Amino acid sequence: MPNIAIVGATGAVGQEFLKILNERNFPIDELRLLATKRSAGKRVSWQDRELEVHETTHESFKGVDIALFAGGSGSTEFARSAVDSGAVVIDNSSAFRLDPEVPLVVPEVNPEDVKWHKGIIANPNCSTIIMAVALKPIFDLAGIRRVVVSTYQAVSGAGREGIEELGAQVKAWSQNEDLTSAVFPYQIAFNVIPRIDVFQEGDYTKEEWKMVKETQKIFHVPNMAITATTVRVPVFRSHSESINVETDRLVSVSEIREALSKAEGLIVDDDPGNDRYPMPWFSADKDEVYVGRLRKDFSIAQGFNLWVVGDQIRKGAATNAVQIAELLL
Ligand SMILES: NC(=O)c1ccc[n+]([C@@H]2O[C@H](COP(=O)([O-])OP(=O)(O)OC[C@H]3O[C@@H](n4cnc5c(N)ncnc54)[C@H](OP(=O)(O)O)[C@@H]3O)[C@@H](O)[C@H]2O)c1
Repeated sequence: MPNIAIVGATGAVGQEFLKILNERNFPIDELRLLATKRSAGKRVSWQDRELEVHETTHESFKGVDIALFAGGSGSTEFARSAVDSGAVVIDNSSAFRLDPEVPLVVPEVNPEDVKWHKGIIANPNCSTIIMAVALKPIFDLAGIRRVVVSTYQAVSGAGREGIEELGAQVKAWSQNEDLTSAVFPYQIAFNVIPRIDVFQEGDYTKEEWKMVKETQKIFHVPNMAITATTVRVPVFRSHSESINVETDRLVSVSEIREALSKAEGLIVDDDPGNDRYPMPWFSADKDEVYVGRLRKDFSIAQGFNLWVVGDQIRKGAATNAVQIAELLL
């Protein structure tokens, strides 16, 4: 059985790794938990084992077969050392995603890309993964000419500190105290912030460019037309996305619905008559991506609208990475 290391084991994604490896009965000989010096010595119970968190160093990966990285800047610092020690790295950061030498994999979309890895496999951005799972059956059915996506992203997308900041602001507000912001650029409680990550070319944010460029790489369509607006909302967990798709071929709503219903990793939750549609509250802690509000876009010939929701700590990060590890095994 393989030896596994988790870098960032004390963070939002790292903690989810522990749950998912257990739930999926992932075969593990040694499980090594790594984080920064701040967390060294913390103890974690996992299955019948009592594990200690260690500081990540360049020597941490001796004997490790698969290193699951969810340690932010730890990826640029330590991923190459892990590979040099003989481990395959599955990385949640954006450090290697657009590197042509590194496969960027969503197992429901491009599992075959795992085969050409040279030591590092990248997990896409969380919003990108959720969108890619929903687009895949439409892409296979009718081709995709253009995608317009707007996201409604949970605070946990910014990690442990994002969750704490929303909680602290709601508490301060309820006690009539001043609200302070450190993780997000403005108050996030009772607000929406149309900026995730830094501004880049053309006044798009880095998060928006990730959704464009990573989706093109995953689908192997470098000129797929995609435009994105990414927005932080005061939701603890699960990202939502409003997606408008223009297909290459003329198909009906019912053909798209059928393709989505049969797709791996997707649940169609779409019954307007009974007020059913996906929402973050109900998709949190689930591995599947939920799709609803499927309808024709009457403003163009071959357009459709969808509302897509997925738990970005699970399918948008930890679950996707563990699925990649399963492909490796
Ligand atoms: N949250 C999400 O929804 C999500 C989704 C997709 C991808 N990601 C990516 O996953 C990674 C982790 O995100 P997160 O949300 O779990 O963050 P987080 O809650 O802030 O946790 C960060 C973790 O990384 C550790 N760490 C930080 N710097 C490190 C370094 N230089 N070397 C080793 N460990 C280091 C921290 O250790 P200490 O506890 O010791 O500080 C902590 O365990 C990030 O790259 C993020 O972009 C996150």
